[in-house]
Amino acid sequence: MRILIVGGAGYIGSHVAREFLDAGHEVAVFDNLSSGRRDNLFPEARFVEGDILDYPALLGCMRGGFDALVHLAAAKAAGESMLKPEKYALQNLNGTVHILNAALEAGVGKVVFSSSAATYGEPKYLPIDEKHPTEPENFYGYTKLEVERLLGWYDRLRGLKFAALRYFNAAGYDVKGRIRGLERDPANLLPVVMEAAAGMRPEVQVFGDDYPTRDGTGVRDYVHVSDLARGHVAALEWVSREGRSLVVNLGSEKGISVLEIIEEARRVTGRPIPARIMPRRPGDPAQLYASSALARELLGWEARHSDVGSLVATTWEAYRASGALR
Ligand code: WQD
Repeated sequence: MRILIVGGAGYIGSHVAREFLDAGHEVAVFDNLSSGRRDNLFPEARFVEGDILDYPALLGCMRGGFDALVHLAAAKAAGESMLKPEKYALQNLNGTVHILNAALEAGVGKVVFSSSAATYGEPKYLPIDEKHPTEPENFYGYTKLEVERLLGWYDRLRGLKFAALRYFNAAGYDVKGRIRGLERDPANLLPVVMEAAAGMRPEVQVFGDDYPTRDGTGVRDYVHVSDLARGHVAALEWVSREGRSLVVNLGSEKGISVLEIIEEARRVTGRPIPARIMPRRPGDPAQLYASSALARELLGWEARHSDVGSLVATTWEAYRASGALR
């Protein structure tokens, strides 16, 4: 198929582009390089530099005869979204309206959308399956849920078929070491731990050690980005084959604690990684992990590289190879 990846120079987008290329598809990338990086692009994939808020540019690109598009162009910091909702409304909501309208105008009938477990909010039961109530706790999660609803209406009214993929905590780097572009100013746990290991920051702050979890620190479902990328290919194949839309979790179904990540990072890197216990971060649930039974059943998908060892080792390899170590 011919596939346009909007946001394909970003952290997850570059892995998705690599996976579609490996699966034999023809790929083009549209990205404004605001958080994406030129060194995340591949020579086999045509690159169009442009902004999703620039409708003529987007439509011009979309008219390239694509069978499907993957949409990963969004702002994604949950904390920031509570302080700057206007930015998230513009990029994640208006930006998506542009993308979907341009897709319809250009006759692109299939979309894979980067959604998030942030659509669920505070867990009411575990593991979280797709029937769990969707009551986002942050504005970021609201924007993802709102786009899922828009996709549902465009399916009903315009026949647009979509797969909305609710990622849990994306982590790790390409298992074959082909993606080296580090995220700028990371706030997520694993890159923060890597920066402490690399000497780029003095310590890791552990946000709370008094949660009702096995070691008192927060437990999350970390899903390897190479696993996520495979999920996009499988989801698009499903939508193409079935001619129906889909909302599905992509998670490892396993919880890993903050201290388990830090311990593994100390082992893999051989570096001390100082950790300081801090108060809980507001809005953080104690534990979150997915049921991915639906992805297994429909897509034949399951996480293969989402064990703590692979998550840490592939991320450290990307940091090492980027020359970031001090
Ligand atoms: C993981 C765990 C922290 C940093 C966020 C978004 C979510 C999704 C993924 C995009 C928690 C602890 C973290 C640190 C720490 N984003 N932590 N010290 O909050 O689970 O999810 O990213 O789709 O929408 O909310 O991820 O990596 O920030 O935190 O102790 O410096 O690590 O308290 O338990 P989170 P995270």
